Amino acid sequence: MNYKNILTQSEAEILIITINREEKLNALNKETLAEIKTAFEAAFSDEQVKGIILTGSGGKAFVAGADISEFQNISVEEGKAFARNGQDIFSMIEKGPKPVVAAVNGFALGGGCELAMACHLRVASDNAKFGQPEVNLGLIPGYGGTQRLVQLVGKGKAMELLMTADMINAQQALELGLVNYVTSLDGLIEKAKELLYIISTKSPVAIKEIIRCVDAYYTEGEDGFDTEINQFGNCFDTEDFREGTSAFLEKRKANFTGK
Ligand code: COA
Repeated sequence: MNYKNILTQSEAEILIITINREEKLNALNKETLAEIKTAFEAAFSDEQVKGIILTGSGGKAFVAGADISEFQNISVEEGKAFARNGQDIFSMIEKGPKPVVAAVNGFALGGGCELAMACHLRVASDNAKFGQPEVNLGLIPGYGGTQRLVQLVGKGKAMELLMTADMINAQQALELGLVNYVTSLDGLIEKAKELLYIISTKSPVAIKEIIRCVDAYYTEGEDGFDTEINQFGNCFDTEDFREGTSAFLEKRKANFTGK
């Protein structure tokens, strides 16, 4: 697949998706968002891909937000469609069957912070900066920021970050639980890979179910405990379960197939 605004690179069983609009600090215009959607859909259905790293090109920005130049002269209905489109794509990433790590290599502002929050894990370089500066523009986050920030850092701190538009650094993001790890910029992708390599030794079926059950906690109308009961039961009818338990009893390493 030929993309204009993103790069994709496979390494072993990991796909690295790099948003590649460095001169615009990797801001998400419509075209870039559509390419991100296509790349994730392809990765989720590709049996060779076990995990995905999402990052930005250059050493300055992960994503500096939605592309503000596309905001001019849009109507209320167009504004809603704009938010719905982004939210659908970010939810698809969040609910996807494979682990996604955001490797945040600089500014993660507005839609960039929202995109990082839609990933399952976040690793930040020590120069990274996070924030939801929409109120500076007379706007609010539209790609799920008011919801996922609360989920990750709690209501009090989320309110503060959303209302003050304050930018926080990587260390502060770590302390708040917004990111899992902080590394040097040079070590960023390696750390993201390390996490995915660990996860890739586990049962892909179980990983998919973990994502689904954790997500159920945040899904209106879904009882996460019920989801867990069902998915726990379903695990017993999988090759991964038979392999995992046999390997344990035979004192060998499990060789999971994801079936
Ligand atoms: N949308 C569109 N273009 C953006 C952008 C965005 N969200 N963020 C940065 N850019 C562009 C700038 O317009 C500039 O383009 P130009 O060289 O053609 O003028 C280029 O990226 C470099 O950005 P610049 O502002 O010159 O870099 P800086 O180092 O002075 O500042 C930021 C960096 C991140 C603080 C600043 O770019 C910024 O505040 N960006 C907007 C962040 C934001 O509000 N995001 C939420 C959007 S809803």
